[in-house]
Amino acid sequence: MRICIIAGDGVGQEVIPAAQRVLQALQLDLEFVYAHAGFEYFQKTGDAIPNATIEIVQACDATLFGATSSPMTRVEGYRSPILAMRQSLALYANLRPVKSLPGEFSRQNVDLLIVRENTEGLYAGRERAEDAETMIAERVITKRASERIARVAFEMARARKKQVTVVHKANVLKLTDGLFRETCFNVAREFPDVETQEMLVDAMAMRLIQDPQHFDVIVTTNLFGDILSDEASALIGGLGVAPSGNIGTRHGVFEPVHGSAPDIAGQGVANPLGAILSAAMMLDYLEWEEAAARVRRAVNTVIERGMRTRDLGGSASMDEMTRAIIENL
Ligand code: NAI
Ligand code: MG
Repeated sequence: MRICIIAGDGVGQEVIPAAQRVLQALQLDLEFVYAHAGFEYFQKTGDAIPNATIEIVQACDATLFGATSSPMTRVEGYRSPILAMRQSLALYANLRPVKSLPGEFSRQNVDLLIVRENTEGLYAGRERAEDAETMIAERVITKRASERIARVAFEMARARKKQVTVVHKANVLKLTDGLFRETCFNVAREFPDVETQEMLVDAMAMRLIQDPQHFDVIVTTNLFGDILSDEASALIGGLGVAPSGNIGTRHGVFEPVHGSAPDIAGQGVANPLGAILSAAMMLDYLEWEEAAARVRRAVNTVIERGMRTRDLGGSASMDEMTRAIIENL
C-alpha cells in the first residue's frame, strides 16, 4: 500500500513522523510518499497546496495529514489545504470517534462517533462583502450531500450501538437545516433496525457534557460538527488525543483533530496520540483491522502504565510516548 504523508505546519511536523514511526514498526507492506501543503510552503512558493500534492493523494491508497496554519485575516492567494482537499477530492464524510481512554484524564464509558458533513454548510466558501460594513456568508445545504452523509451515519451505527442522533437547528434555519433534518429522517426509514433521535445543536452541546454515554452516532452539518467534535474531545483528554478521517468514495485522508498548535510547536512536547490513533483509523480503512487493533492496544497499555504528555498532566515528551507505544505493539 502507498501512503501519502503530508506533515504540514507546526506540530504536524512532529506528530506525523511519530505516527509514521508507529506504522513502520508494524512491518506492513507500506510505501511512503511525501507531499507538501501549508502556510510555510505557501510563504516559500505562493501556493498552499500545489496540484502535485492533490495528484499524489489521488495516486496513493490513503493519506496521513498533520495540520496547517491558517491566517486569521485574508491573505491573497492562500486557501486552506485541508478545505481544498475535502472539496476537490470529495471527502464528504468527516468521521470523528470519541472513545474513552484508560486514564484519569478521560471520562469513562464514552464511545460515540461524530459524522460531520465535510463539503458544504457554512464552510462552502461563499463569503462576500455586501459593502464595507456588511459581510455575508452563505450556508449551503443540499439534499444530495445530506443524503450521503446520513447514509454513512446509519451504516456506521449498524456496526455499532444502532443509534443515530440527528443534530441541527431546524427551528431557526428552517430551509437549510429543515432540508438536512428531513433528508436524514428519510434515510432513517431504510434503517429500521437503527434508533433515530434528533437534538437541537445548542442542547446537544450541553448534553455532550452532561450525558455523553447516552450517544452513539451523531450526524450533523459542517460547522456544528467541527465545534461539537472539539468539545467532545475534551471528554477524553482534549485535542491532543482526538483522531479523525476525511472519507470519500475514492480517497481517505486521516488527520488528528487538532491544528498546528504554534504555542507548543518545536518543543517536542506535543501529544502524538491524535496522530497515532488517526493512523489506526487509516489502517482500518485499508482493511488492516488487526494492525489497527494492535496500535490501539499499545496506546491503552501505555496510558494504563501512567505515561502522560504535558497536555494530559504529565511530563513525558512526544518521543518518549511514541517509543513506549512502539515497544508495546
Ligand atoms: P490547535 O488545535 O492548534 O491548538 C489548540 C490548543 O490545543 C493549544 O493550546 C495547543 O497547544 C493544544 N494542542 C493542539 N494539539 C496538541 C497536541 N498534539 N498535544 C498537546 N496539545 C495540543 O488550534 P488553534 O490554536 O485554534 O489553531 C492553531 C492553528 O492551527 C491555526 O492556524 C488554525 O487555523 C490551525 N488549525 C488547523 C487545522 C487543520 O489543519 N486541520 C485544524 C484546526 C486548527
Ligand atoms: Mg476544528
